[in-house]
Amino acid sequence: MSTTDDDKPNGGNGTDEELHGLLAEFDTPGALIAAARKVKNAGYTEFDCYSPFPVHGIDAAMGIKATKLPWVVFLGGLSGLFLGTLMQWWMNAYDWPWNVAGKPTWSIPANVPISYETTILLSVLTTFFGMWAANKLPQVWHPFFRLDRFARVTDDGFFLGIEAGDKRFELEQTKQLLVAAGASHVEECSVDARPAARSVPRWIWAVMPIMTMLALIPIALVYKARATKSPDPHYHIFSDMDFQPKAKSDQPFAEFADGRANRAQAGGTVARGQLKADDGYYRGLGNGQWLSGLPAQVEVTPALLDRGQERYNIYCAPCHGFDGAGHGIVPERVAMLGGAWEARNLVERSSAVIKMPNGQIFNTISNGNNTMMGYASQIPVEDRWAIVLYVRALQRSQNAVESELPPGSEVR
Ligand code: HEC
Repeated sequence: MSTTDDDKPNGGNGTDEELHGLLAEFDTPGALIAAARKVKNAGYTEFDCYSPFPVHGIDAAMGIKATKLPWVVFLGGLSGLFLGTLMQWWMNAYDWPWNVAGKPTWSIPANVPISYETTILLSVLTTFFGMWAANKLPQVWHPFFRLDRFARVTDDGFFLGIEAGDKRFELEQTKQLLVAAGASHVEECSVDARPAARSVPRWIWAVMPIMTMLALIPIALVYKARATKSPDPHYHIFSDMDFQPKAKSDQPFAEFADGRANRAQAGGTVARGQLKADDGYYRGLGNGQWLSGLPAQVEVTPALLDRGQERYNIYCAPCHGFDGAGHGIVPERVAMLGGAWEARNLVERSSAVIKMPNGQIFNTISNGNNTMMGYASQIPVEDRWAIVLYVRALQRSQNAVESELPPGSEVR
């Protein structure tokens, strides 16, 4: 807060005042353009035009060159593209390559959406803050604001201001130039020259640390909530969204007479496409026993085995490993986190899976077993049989004995 009389409309002529420049008013946009051209041709550089709306042609008249901002934005976008792609490569292909359903860890098409977004993000940020920098923002105050007349720039006033700092500025001469250029009014503008008058008021310095401290409180609360344990129940901001009066599967539900949410199938009916009468093909059963052979629909071909290998590598390898020995990346990760959770070894000689009938393996894939979930909803029946075949191939290849080798083979 300053204690001087610098609130006088024209800034007064006290000793602390210093000339900022001259402000000339023109009656029409055309007059402003003509004047801008004259001032530019007279060799002035430190001047600007002020108008209530954009005046076409004013840039050329003032000699303003095309902005370099698009190039800066282009560079910002390029770095967004580069950084976004690098980030994904680093995360997905280098630092933590993770087998997600057999997909490659590094593939350009998968990176397009994120790289596209980071390109736009950095372009927009450079546009926004580049504009600020180019226009010397944020600027909340300008010396011309001291002149009452200047208020009309938001209404019907067209102004040209020349700063006293310009090399060619010469008070009387510059005034004459502006009058000759058609100014209807020319006014001097001065500012308070003392540094204290231009610096940030002291109360703002006092308030800023207080506001900063207050702004840290929510962050501290969030951090505390994350770092500590509490027996209190979770606070529900929208409890009617978290607890809706609706039926969830396998939950009690009072609206129905039997008190269950799950509805039984209507007796004596079969949903369309759900008949699946063939026990062997759809359930791996024959006469109530697990099938040891294969259902008639499954014809063993190299193509079906290849299909089985591909599907196995996608759906089973994450847990059972590519070789079937149970060392997939999921148990590996569990071990890294200090837990113990193993997928069954499907191939070792002592494994129960070796003697298991085909129908039972098919059933495990369909419906799961203990801690292994079923894959019926993801893997079609035909593919499940293909996987059974491939599991058999894995077992056979890893337990082959010499007598099984074709004649003429050599054991090394
Ligand atoms: C999410 C991890 C996971 C995936 C994926 C997975 N399994 Fe398993 N699997 C297990 C675990 C764990 C067990 C041991 C379950 C138990 O305790 O019997 C198991 C057991 C088995 C068994 C033996 C079941 C029994 O009755 O003892 C077979 C056969 C099997 N899996 C085959 C497969 C095949 C084929 C696939 C691919 C379609 C597959 N699994 C996918 C985790 C997995």
